[in-house]
Amino acid sequence: MSRLAAIDVTVAFGHRRRRVVAVDGVDVAVARGETLGIVGESGSGKSTLARALAGLVPPAAGRVELDGQPFGRRRGRDALRRIQLVFQDPAASLSPTLSVEQLLGDALAAAGVARSARPGRVGELLDAVGLAAVRRQARPRELSGGQRQRVALARALGSEPDFLICDEVTSALDVSARGAMLNLLGEVQRERGFGMVFITHDIAAVRHISRRIAVMHLGAVVEQGDARAVVAAPQHPYTAALIAAVPRLAPAPSAPAVPSQSPAT
Ligand SMILES: Nc1ncnc2c1ncn2[C@@H]1O[C@H](COP(=O)(O)OP(=O)(O)OP(=O)(O)O)[C@@H](O)[C@H]1O
Ligand SMILES: [Mg+2]
Repeated sequence: MSRLAAIDVTVAFGHRRRRVVAVDGVDVAVARGETLGIVGESGSGKSTLARALAGLVPPAAGRVELDGQPFGRRRGRDALRRIQLVFQDPAASLSPTLSVEQLLGDALAAAGVARSARPGRVGELLDAVGLAAVRRQARPRELSGGQRQRVALARALGSEPDFLICDEVTSALDVSARGAMLNLLGEVQRERGFGMVFITHDIAAVRHISRRIAVMHLGAVVEQGDARAVVAAPQHPYTAALIAAVPRLAPAPSAPAVPSQSPAT
């Protein structure tokens, strides 16, 4: 089973007194077909961990493994292709002068798809992300935020990744576009079977999409486990504080106590 793992990964920026440890000894792993949610407040190191998992920043200590093999600076094109990142702000990650057709065509070219096969594949990708009706000559600015984020997703899917890292992909969307994007991600993942790392500061959203979650605080993972169990009975005060900040997740004072679900031994 294909697996992407961070093993005791530390990432630091700057030197000496200006040194910032953005990720501090983190262990997380995700297998193909499964979703790991990562939650934490702004600055807790989520995006830096995402970039380390994708091989875009080298760890100062620890290692990232793909299928049990360490990879880093020497990773080949294949490892690059197999791990794709989608960011919060598609306006920044999609080149504004290129059309939808060109954006997706370029991604397919990078993945080694022959020129003659590209128009057909562009159609399939647009279909997969619910944009079959979009004008292929449209530029990113002519699309809605939700549509742009779907184009960014289609572009990532163009390389047929084994792992998709979604960094706050729903954060800039309004409530309805956010729900639609979450559903779409779930569907596409079921169809294609990639492993997903879903990063957000929204612990309510993460619960819907991930079976397992890791909670980050000040660069470290303070708690990790089954998403429902973590939300129902957080073990770390920081997790409890994150949950308490979401009114619909926090237990109402008058609600009957939920029996604990510790496994029978
Ligand atoms: N390229 C960089 N150079 C210097 N410091 C950085 C760099 N990237 C991130 N940092 C620092 O690392 C820490 C973690 O940042 P990171 O972007 O990973 O957090 P985050 O959890 O993704 O936050 P947000 O929810 O706001 O996106 C912060 O203190 C940030 O200032
Ligand atoms: Mg971030």
